[in-house]
Amino acid sequence: MEINKVSIIITRMKILAIETSCDETALALVEASGGLKSPKFRVLKNIISSQTAIHAHWGGVVPNLAKREHEKNLPLLLKQISGKNMKRFLDGVDFISVTASGPGLEPALWAGITFAKQIAQTYKKNIIAASHLEGHLYSFLLPTKKLKSVNLKTALPAIVLSVSGGHTFLLYMKTLKNWKKLGETRDDAAGEAFDKVARMLNLPYPGGPQIEKIAKAGNPEAIAFPRPMINQKNYDFSFSGLKTSVLYYLRDHLKAKKEDVAASFQKAAIDVLVAKTIRAAQSLGVRSIILCGGVAANKTIRNELAVKAQGLDFNFFVPDFIYNTDNAAMIAAASYLEVLRKKKYRLIAQGNPRI
Ligand code: KG4
Ligand code: ZN
Repeated sequence: MEINKVSIIITRMKILAIETSCDETALALVEASGGLKSPKFRVLKNIISSQTAIHAHWGGVVPNLAKREHEKNLPLLLKQISGKNMKRFLDGVDFISVTASGPGLEPALWAGITFAKQIAQTYKKNIIAASHLEGHLYSFLLPTKKLKSVNLKTALPAIVLSVSGGHTFLLYMKTLKNWKKLGETRDDAAGEAFDKVARMLNLPYPGGPQIEKIAKAGNPEAIAFPRPMINQKNYDFSFSGLKTSVLYYLRDHLKAKKEDVAASFQKAAIDVLVAKTIRAAQSLGVRSIILCGGVAANKTIRNELAVKAQGLDFNFFVPDFIYNTDNAAMIAAASYLEVLRKKKYRLIAQGNPRI
């Protein structure tokens, strides 16, 4: 089953999206319209069931456990999203989209794909296999509290900083169809570094929000952690050296104040991310800077990048908090654009990002 007429998709479409790439089971119902020139999305329903409490026990996500939890949660979420009459709900859906490529865990991705196939078969629906990375990249198009839709004429070209637990990319987005990678992390993803440093500080998984929380009571200038690759002209990142510096610091300073370590680490990581993003924006002469991915939920990076971007006359876009970490609304947006871009991804789990 496939969508072969792009034209039908330019009109108003209702998309039921499924996201299971990591440890959030998420479903969303999104109305999409406007086409590639001015896409508009209305998030009619957006539900997320987080497994973090289960994985926290193991200090990180266990792929097969994630898969089992997704299999358990998906039918419950479908019931919740569809209300009393599942058939009537699905009759109003134009197609189903499901995350198939990563970054993600293949067993977890398969859980979503298998479930999507079951519903598609039962209710005679088409499926679009979506890319998780594209979900994050296009999440800035989802409506925010401030902005119903983005005016692409004034927003693009843009530099996109996509930072999550599974990837860290800097991209040049010329149009919604035409974007390319400028750089990426050479080792740990930014979110992964937050998670690992949190573990060193005995903070629970996922560590990013925990680091942010305790950093508020710390001094970001207390410890001079390195800013890896900040002065290199390329657009790559590296976080493993920074992580090791934190490890050695804690080894050598048994009485270190956790809050200061968290605040200083957070500042070091963000300084590099912000500096390279701004440099890319200046040298490529773009109109905007876009921040997305789980780490974009961090208020310090949001504020720093917003202030720097606006000070230099760039527009700044960041999705609302609920659309930074994994969600299915962004998958609906990615699948709508995928069809308009005349892409067609295979309905098989692929852990690596499609880039
Ligand atoms: O996009 P996401 O939900 O999943 C992946 O695709 O990986 O990102 C999750 C990552 C985790 O590493 C988490 O620690 C990090 O985003 N994160 C944060 C914050 N909230 C989530 N990192 C720093 N500060 C936060 N507030
Ligand atoms: Zn993600």
